[in-house]
Amino acid sequence: MTQSPFRDDLFEGKTAFIAGGTSGINLGIARRYAELGAKVAVLGRNPEKAQAAAESIGDAAIALTADVRDYAAIRAAMEEARDRLGGFDIVVSGAAGNFLAPVLGMSANAFKAVVDIDLLGTFNVFRGCHDLLNLPGASLIAITAGQAEQAMAMQAHACAAKAGINQLVRTLALEWGPDVRVNGISPGPIGDTEGMARLAPDPKTRDAHYARIAMKRWGTVFEIAEAAVYLSSAAGNYVTGAILDVDGGSSIGDASRLDTGKGLA
Ligand code: HXC
Ligand code: NAP
Repeated sequence: MTQSPFRDDLFEGKTAFIAGGTSGINLGIARRYAELGAKVAVLGRNPEKAQAAAESIGDAAIALTADVRDYAAIRAAMEEARDRLGGFDIVVSGAAGNFLAPVLGMSANAFKAVVDIDLLGTFNVFRGCHDLLNLPGASLIAITAGQAEQAMAMQAHACAAKAGINQLVRTLALEWGPDVRVNGISPGPIGDTEGMARLAPDPKTRDAHYARIAMKRWGTVFEIAEAAVYLSSAAGNYVTGAILDVDGGSSIGDASRLDTGKGLA
């Protein structure tokens, strides 16, 4: 693990609720909060997966099951978390669905499935948690993606959903300040995740992709977790309504031109 600048007791006495926290990036965020002293609730649809995730974190974690598309279910899970762990200082909304498909290969229900998990799910998580937050000083984080700003073929559902999330973040920051800070993290391509297994299944695509990124590599789950720690710690006290790109420069442009030394073909 890369050395962290954060103190081991940074989140002692704090509680974090992580929707979609049972695998990948969000589990890494939950694990990091727990390592820094927080009690954490991780939520997904699959109960065995959720239980395994909580056990992998240790005694500080509890597992919860709900579908973020179902407001009543997510609210009930949050109330259970509040009863068992106390009110929330940190809430992360990171549940997402994705698959590669062109618009003409996508039914209305396929588009809706992703928009409902990502965007409606984030509304449900944030709407549902407000009266369970420890105020002032609560920190809400949505996990978004570069597709919110940069259109990508085969990703109409995710592009639309993540763009909606960015505007939801900004709107809630306006409505809920100064007691609640609401921010987004936009990860670049992160290695060893379900998301990248779906978007870049071919290793050759992956190698070619590195050249385009200023940092010449994909990111790690830990690097996204450290950004979440920053945003939800006192170091981020004056940051709200921001979408923090943690993407090695992926979103600023294509770095591969330098390798070829050529202009446009
Ligand atoms: C076209 C597809 C499809 C595909 C599913 N569908 N896969 N259409 N191409 N490859 C269609 C189905 O046929 C159905 O439409 C509709 O989508 C809903 O499918 P269900 O399986 O009924 O939905 P559900 O069980 O709710 O599952 C949702 C899911 C699934 C998104 C389809 O893949 C899922 O649960 N994913 C969660 C894990 C995940 O995706 N992780 C990666 C997230 S990371 P019809 O018309 O037949 O009913 C990520 C990283 C990249 O997002 C960042 C960029 C944004
Ligand atoms: P992942 O491992 O597939 O994690 C998705 C999580 O969401 C799991 O815990 C999953 O658990 C849960 N989930 C999915 N649908 C749900 C639903 N309807 N209700 C409740 N929980 C649900 O994904 P990941 O690749 O780590 O991505 C995590 C986040 O980062 C996503 O928001 C993604 O868009 C974003 N992101 C990822 C990348 C990347 O490189 N991977 C890049 C940019 C942005 P269950 O399956 O049990 O429900």
